[in-house]
Amino acid sequence: MSTAAVNFLLSRQSVKFVQSPGPAPEHLDLILQAAMTAPDHGKLRPWRFSLIRDDAVVRLGELAIQASRRAGKPLSEEKEVGIRKWLSKVPLLVAMACRIDHSNTKVPEHERALAVGVAAGNMLNAAHMLGYGAFWSTGLGTYIDEVTEALGYDSLDYQFLGFMAIGTPIMPPEPVVRPDYHEFVTEWK
Ligand SMILES: Cc1cc2nc3c(=O)[nH]c(=O)nc-3n(C[C@H](O)[C@H](O)[C@H](O)COP(=O)(O)O)c2cc1C
Repeated sequence: MSTAAVNFLLSRQSVKFVQSPGPAPEHLDLILQAAMTAPDHGKLRPWRFSLIRDDAVVRLGELAIQASRRAGKPLSEEKEVGIRKWLSKVPLLVAMACRIDHSNTKVPEHERALAVGVAAGNMLNAAHMLGYGAFWSTGLGTYIDEVTEALGYDSLDYQFLGFMAIGTPIMPPEPVVRPDYHEFVTEWK
């Protein structure tokens, strides 16, 4: 085993501003398959993903803007302009939700959501390793029922976890300095 892969993983950072081309079909297969390796208490497979591409990305953004207004939570004009500009270039959004299996009461709900969160993390890592930029956002109406219901995720059966934009970075990201893990780790004896 080599440490090269892990060292490359350490260079991952989110890239919000992406453009076409989006992931090639065989790369998207790998990104989504990487999600399937997430740890999953009870093998509930709680993750659900919807692929939103090209024109549909722009329509989703418009829906989020209008639905936020209708829900009495309008975005500022600046934010609306920013969303439209951002999404006009994004080739792929992956909508991500956690399925709530009401028949299973053994695995707490937050553990199922964590499994989907790890799945999303695996997707971010896989996208990075394939040379794409990816960014997880809980903007775009993640907490607005009209938006999530339009995507097929009613709040009774799903916890909606946001969107992942994936594409080709428009600009190389600014280098970031990550915290030293020692700050967050103690030894318990
Ligand atoms: C669940 C979740 C939701 C997020 N939602 C947003 C968001 O709506 N807007 C935003 O600017 N960043 C959001 N972020 C943070 C970015 O995805 C990203 O992590 C952040 O810009 C830092 O970049 P890094 O991943 O390179 O550290 C979210 C992150 C997570 C885990």
